[in-house]
Amino acid sequence: MNDVADIDLADRDYFSDHSILLDPYQYFEALRDKGPIYRLPGRDIFVVTGFAESLEVLNNTVDFSSVVATGGPAWPLPFAVAGDDLTPLIEANRDKFLGADLLVARDDKAHYNSRALLSRLFTPSRLKANEAYMSGLAARLVSNAVAAGGCELIKDIAVPFATLVVADLLGVPDADRDHFMEVIAAGPPPGALDSAVRDESQQPLAIMAGFFVNYLIDRKQNPRGDVLTELATASYPDGTSPDIAELVRLSTFLFGAGQDTTAKLLGNAMRFLIEVPGLQAQLRADPSLLPAFLEEVLRLEGSTKMTARLARKATTVGGVEIPIGTKVMVALAAANRDPRRWENPREFVLNRPKIKENLAFGRGAHVCIGNPLARVEARIVFEKLFEQTSQIDFDAKVHGPRGHNQFDYEPSFIIRGLEKLQLTLAPR
Ligand code: HEM
Repeated sequence: MNDVADIDLADRDYFSDHSILLDPYQYFEALRDKGPIYRLPGRDIFVVTGFAESLEVLNNTVDFSSVVATGGPAWPLPFAVAGDDLTPLIEANRDKFLGADLLVARDDKAHYNSRALLSRLFTPSRLKANEAYMSGLAARLVSNAVAAGGCELIKDIAVPFATLVVADLLGVPDADRDHFMEVIAAGPPPGALDSAVRDESQQPLAIMAGFFVNYLIDRKQNPRGDVLTELATASYPDGTSPDIAELVRLSTFLFGAGQDTTAKLLGNAMRFLIEVPGLQAQLRADPSLLPAFLEEVLRLEGSTKMTARLARKATTVGGVEIPIGTKVMVALAAANRDPRRWENPREFVLNRPKIKENLAFGRGAHVCIGNPLARVEARIVFEKLFEQTSQIDFDAKVHGPRGHNQFDYEPSFIIRGLEKLQLTLAPR
């Protein structure tokens, strides 16, 4: 590995450089060396690597807009910066930002209203029913993998699991679930580094929208007392009703937001489980440690490396002036390794104090609405794996011999996760 000082920051472009994918942390450490908030040379982008500074940005929805959260901060603004508050210009040009009609990129009242609709889905009773489904589904997927002597964790277990869990949460009819899975598995990850994938019509979300239009129109006309009916007839906090397009966007976005992220968390966690000496034996002996294990994985190797905001007003972060119209990349992965917040930040430590304060799921108004679900999903998959196997290892035929393992990471500036993880599973 190169020394941090060897990296010439001006020569590296985080948003297109595939060489950063393998170890983004080294790049973030080089940025941290310049300060917890640092302007990229020659660009209108600040990168925040500090924990406290990240919180400052995420909690400040007055000065920052989320309009760049989906597309990332690298694209030029579709308007000339003018005045002392860009909000009217952002709203007038929102359709020119990538994915800016999605919940995560909305601001103010539009965000509050849409989020309130979704919160109705994530009720404790709904999550409990969903958990029963998860348990059965995970047991089935794991049992197939064990019978085969091994699996490619991402494709064979993680992606189908994460997709079907959201399908269940939304009440997608059984008959359509396999098709959903195929469509999503074929699509690119969020924040793909290669521009060829920007054809929106090929995006899985666009295809899935077709299904949801039909479901929701049907449920509006013929209410059935299922989850889709609840969504189709839901109203905003002020009593007005969302239109079908809004409901479709929200439903399909849940797949986009909850599928790759959760699937990659499973892969990242598995890598730690196998690589950290003694960890697999310790967790097998006491599976009640699984939530603590997953939390430390989320801190060290969460599946979302960053999010972004646009300064719609002139403001400051960590005492640094942020001019109006500049973009801020909040490097969640770096904040989670900030030595001012975490002792020995690069080390894997089970049961760190206040570990749940990690920023893997963001913070503030846009904090991940699916975070309780993702945590349960990951725990259940590991529980089922422990129940049905006596030992899990990397498949040396694919990843090389112990101590010289090789892995490829998803080419995305947002997602941190293994493209593939081939495992051998010894049955119990
Ligand atoms: C390990 C798994 C996951 C990770 C690491 C993750 C991470 C994140 C992060 C960092 C944000 C905030 C983005 C921002 O502030 O700009 C977010 C938002 C969101 N996540 Fe997740 N997520 C995960 C799983 C899920 C799941 C399972 C669902 C739902 C089924 C979900 C639904 C959402 C939604 C709807 C938002 C937007 C919330 C808003 O803007 O108000 N996520 N997620």
